[in-house]
Formats: sequence, C-alpha cells, structure tokens
Amino acid sequence: MPVLDREPDRKLMRFSCSSVGQALPKLPVPALGDTLDLYLRTLRPLLTEEQYQETLKIVTTFGAPGGLGELLQRRLLERSENRANWVYDYWLNDMYLANRMALPINSSPVMVFPPQHFRAPIDSLRFAAHLISGMLEYKSLLDTRSLPLDYARGQLAGTPLCMEQYYRLFTSYRLPGPQRDTLVAQQSSVMPEPEHIIVACRNQFFVMDVVINFRRLNERDLLTQLDRISKMADSEEERLPPIGLLTSDGRTEWAESRRVLMKESTNRDALDMIERCLCLVCLDQSSGLDLTDTSRAKLMLHGGGGAKNGGNRWYDKPMQFVIGSDGCCGVVCEHSAFEGIVLVQCTEYLLKYMRGSPSKLVRAASVSELPAPRRLRWKCTPEIHKHLSSSEDKLNRQVRNLDMDVHKFHEYGKEFIKKQKMSPDAYIQVALQLAYYKCHGRLVSTYESASIRRFQEGRVENIRSATAEALGFVRAMADLKSKKMERLRAAINAQTKYTVLAITGKAIDNHLLGLREIAQDLKLEKPEIFKDTAFLISNQFILSTSQVPTTVDMFCCYGPVVPDGYGACYNPQSDHVLFCVSSFRDSPQTCSEEFVQILERGLLEMRDLCVRHNADTNGNPSGKADERPSGNYKEETLERPVQSQAYFNIVQILVSLMMLLCNHSTK
Ligand code: COA
Repeated sequence: MPVLDREPDRKLMRFSCSSVGQALPKLPVPALGDTLDLYLRTLRPLLTEEQYQETLKIVTTFGAPGGLGELLQRRLLERSENRANWVYDYWLNDMYLANRMALPINSSPVMVFPPQHFRAPIDSLRFAAHLISGMLEYKSLLDTRSLPLDYARGQLAGTPLCMEQYYRLFTSYRLPGPQRDTLVAQQSSVMPEPEHIIVACRNQFFVMDVVINFRRLNERDLLTQLDRISKMADSEEERLPPIGLLTSDGRTEWAESRRVLMKESTNRDALDMIERCLCLVCLDQSSGLDLTDTSRAKLMLHGGGGAKNGGNRWYDKPMQFVIGSDGCCGVVCEHSAFEGIVLVQCTEYLLKYMRGSPSKLVRAASVSELPAPRRLRWKCTPEIHKHLSSSEDKLNRQVRNLDMDVHKFHEYGKEFIKKQKMSPDAYIQVALQLAYYKCHGRLVSTYESASIRRFQEGRVENIRSATAEALGFVRAMADLKSKKMERLRAAINAQTKYTVLAITGKAIDNHLLGLREIAQDLKLEKPEIFKDTAFLISNQFILSTSQVPTTVDMFCCYGPVVPDGYGACYNPQSDHVLFCVSSFRDSPQTCSEEFVQILERGLLEMRDLCVRHNADTNGNPSGKADERPSGNYKEETLERPVQSQAYFNIVQILVSLMMLLCNHSTK
C-alpha cells in the first residue's frame, strides 16, 4: 500500500476537475499584514487589555519590514508555487496525523441513522446486505469516475468544488505511528478485482469477499454470507480476544500494540486484510438501551465500551457502517481522509438507494457455492492481553466521561432566519456565542469549520466566531438600554464577513500554521508569536462547532476537542435546528444539558428581538425591541421559564393585523 503521496492525488484531481474543463484555482497565500491584523482583531475579545498589549508588541515585531514574518512569507509563497495546495500536508499533520488522542469521541465524527425496527435478527442482516449493495453501487460510481461534480451552496454559491476527498472513502487507511500516523492509500481500478469488506461481529473480524470471479455479489449472496458470518461468530469455542479495542486507544499506544502484534505472521496477515478492505460493517449486539437520539449518538461515538460493542470496531478505517440488532445504526468515520460533508453525501446516497430500491429479499440461500467468509486469526501474547485490558479501561473511562445532548430546537429554523435577511449559519453561530456567554460570562476561542473545497485539494479553514461584534451583542442582551437589534445585525454581519474570508482562503488559521511550519522546516527557533500565551489561548477551541446539514433523516455528531470544551454540531432545517452538544463529565466547567437549555432560551430571545424589531419598524408602538431585558446572565437559574410561545403568537398576530390595516389604508 503506497503512502498517500502527491501523485495519486494529482491523478484524481486531474480527473475530477480538469476533465470537466473546470480546473480549480490554487489556495491563495493571504498577505502577511492582513493576517496579522485579523489575528489581533480575533484576540481582542479573548484577552485582557494587558495580555493584548503584550501580544500587540510581539505581532508588530514579527510583521515589521525586513523582519522574520516577511522571510517566512516569502518561503511560503515559494512553497505555494511548487504545490497544488501549500497548506495541505501541514494541515493534515497538525489537525490529525500528529494528534495523539484516541480516535473515538476525540476525532471520529459519526452519522446516526433513525432507529430501525428489526423484528428478527435476520432483518438486521437484510438491512446490512442492502446497505453493502448500495455501497458497491456508490463505489462503482467512484471507480468509473461518474460521480457528479459538487457545486458550492449558500454563501458565494455556484462555484465547482474539489472532489478529491470522495476518492479516499474506500481506499485509505490511517496507520498508527509512534510519533505521527500516516494516511495510506490504495489505487483503485475500473475493473472489478478481488475486493473485500471486513465484517465485525461479536468482536470477531471476518473477511467477506464482495467480488468473486470478477462478479460483484448480489444482495442475496451478500445476505447469505452475512448469515454465515453471524453463525460463525456465535460459536463461543472459536472466539478470539477483542483486538479492535486496541484501535480505540491513544495513537501512540495503538502504534506500540500494533508493533507487538506484527511480530506474529498470523497477526500480520490479519492486519493486512483489514488495512486493505473497502470498509467495515459492524454487526452490533443489542445495547439494551432505550434508543433515544442522545443514546444512539453516544453508542455510535464509542460503541458502549468493552462490555457492549466497543471492541466491535476498527477505528483506523475511514468508513465503518454500524448495524445494531436493536436498530441502532449509523456510520463511524475516520476523519483524516475527508470532511463530514463528503461523508453525508455518500451516506445520503446509500439511504436514498435503500429507500428507492426496497429489498425484496426473503431469505438467504440455504446452500451456497460461494466460498465461506474467513475469520481473521490473532496470536495474542501476554503482552497483547495487557495492552488489551489497558485499552479497554481507557475506552470505558471515555464512555463514562462523555456528556452528550442531542436536542431538536423546533420553535423555528432556517426559513425564519432567512426572512430576517440574515445568514442562518451566522445567526446560529451568534446564538452559540450567546449561550456560552450566558453560561460563563465571557467568550472563548471558537472554531467553525469552513470548507475550502473551492481550491485544489482544499479541506477546511476556521471561522473564528468569537468576534468583537459578537461580544458587543451578547453584552447588549444583558443590558436594558442598549441597541440589541443593531448589535445583533452587527454580530451577524461580522460573522458572515468572516465566513466569506474563510471560504475564499483569506482567513488566518491556515496561514499562521503555514508560517509556523515553514519556520520549523527552515530549522529556525520557534518564532515568539507562536510561543506567546495568546497564541495558545487562541488555539484552545473551547467551542468546536460545525454545520453538517442533511437532506435525509439522520444527523452528525462528534466530541469536544479540549477537556473543558463543547463540541457543537448543528443541522439547520427549514423549520427546526438539530443541535448535538457534547462535553466531558469530569470538567467542572461544562454541562451539555445546561448549555442546550440556555442555547434554546437565547434562540427564543433572539427571535423575540427580531419580531419586536419588525413590529417597531412596521409602526407598532408597543414594540421597543431594544428596551426590553433579554434574560439574565451567568447567575440565571435553569428553572426560569423561557419566553412563552403564547407571547410570540400574540406579537405575530399584532404584526399581521397592523400590516393588514396599513395595506387597507393605502388602497
Ligand atoms: N438573507 C437571506 N438568506 C440568506 C442570507 C441573507 N442575508 N444569507 C444566507 N442566506 C441563505 C443562503 O442563500 C442559503 O440558501 P439555500 O438554503 O437556499 O442554499 C442559506 O441561507 C444558507 O446560507 P448560510 O446560512 O449563510 O450558510 P452556508 O450554507 O453558506 O454555510 C458554511 C456556511 C460556513 C457552513 C459553509 O460555507 C461551509 O463551509 N460548510 C462546510 C462545513 C463543514 O465542512 N462541515 C463539516 C466539518 S467535518
């Protein structure tokens, strides 16, 4: 398996973009002065005046004419001339491969399907066969390069997007390393060739060929094979230790256990089969839990730990389809190869495929000519057993520590926000800032992922949502006399402006990373600007947020990225917004349920503010949007009732009546 170097990527790039005559532009390197100015502006709401003044000196020295900043900028420009994307390797390394954290919860996002109602165990296998069949269809679109080109939606809609990430869905593997992981890739072929998936069942791993004698297995054959696997997994005498648990450990620990495993040829063969598979299909045992949105999200993120399905996974592989016999289903994704949006596109294709071509299968074949699936064998030394028990302990601790709350905010959605002539994404981001401020009385460094697929090999940039204007707004909401609506608009405009900067490659995170890394490549001492406490504070993303919209009934979620932080993934729909908020129980700073409740209250206050403002501008003297208190801050208790729906309805009726009267009198 070759290391994912530039060559295969370029080949795909040429196909996905140039073949339709739309070669994408290269990611620009922003001007040094612009980045340093914006960097200082983003620090303002996060630092004390004293800290800020200190940092201002450091940044000014760095950016001074003839200074270190200019030298690094020149080198970065040279680098950008020689590569399709100057930040890609730096970013991949920094964001994923050098990160030593365990993948479940900390790194791997998941898609959660609606609960399935399987009446008998065979129903879950039938679902799995249908899904695999859809996956093979999708893969043939990839193999024949027939996937339609994506175009940007929302802000600056219409430009074509880089398709490269799709080609890694079923071909890549994240190999653990002692200091750094490696993303490896397999070349795929147009001709059907021997291909296999790995089926995990009761912590056992089975090789299931999906192309035999140059023929893709049909759904009935797939069901037959899955049925055989399920029976093989039932046999207790043959059961082997849950080696998959090792992949849930920290990356350095897993690299070490893998090194030990590799000493045995049996293990080497098993690892090789897993590393070369298309994807995993995890047939989970019933969790015994009530399948709420929140419990399904948790089960998808960690499998329920060693006692449930935590060992029925192989976290290095980008795509793991989970099918629980209790109907808890979804996808676990290793994130280094592609973004959540690509995962959503692929998964939506599969769910639509399943809906569009209902399975007519009755039963698996009782006799089959197909070669039997093979169980992967492991030779486990006492050392491996020790690693296993340590990995299991850590996973179980993570399971207990995850505080997750999936909440459907159903009072309004995108359409109401659009009617206010505001960007729904910016509005939700401002609401998240308001919620954090209400909980903690301050703003914190916030990450919002922005796609830069408009550029060759583009992945993501960061929208730093804790803007000075957002701080102005959240403070105004606590103040009786301040101009709340004006502040809200200013906050949304600032957020929207930052979004446009980010998606056009002019934001700061990638640029600062590039400058830092190129200094290291040049073997220079780490520049002061990157040693500064302000830089550390600005890179501690206490709020890690992302919009992952879906068009079918499913949702995405992930964990926080720092110990005292929140992961906040949201899925805006026309009449509601789904929020998936995660945090860690052992942090005294966070509580997902409280955050969600306060977020909900803030969203209602923002709506009331807009409605009252609309009433004001339509001439309703009782409006006075800016002169009403908008809830208490920090010290407010959760018992305080939210603004009532009845109040909102009355205001809306009043507005409609006023408008009717106005129209009538002008006729
Ligand atoms: N008035 C009325 N409507 C507006 C508006 C305004 N002022 N501003 C925006 N809208 C509309 C848009 O036209 C769009 O309409 P559509 O639903 O018909 O397409 C809709 O509101 C949504 O736009 P907006 O809320 O501004 O967001 P966006 O779709 O441009 O998304 C990002 C913004 C940053 C989320 C997006 O650019 C992005 O990068 N997405 C990828 C995120 C990602 O990578 N997630 C996965 C991480 S693993």
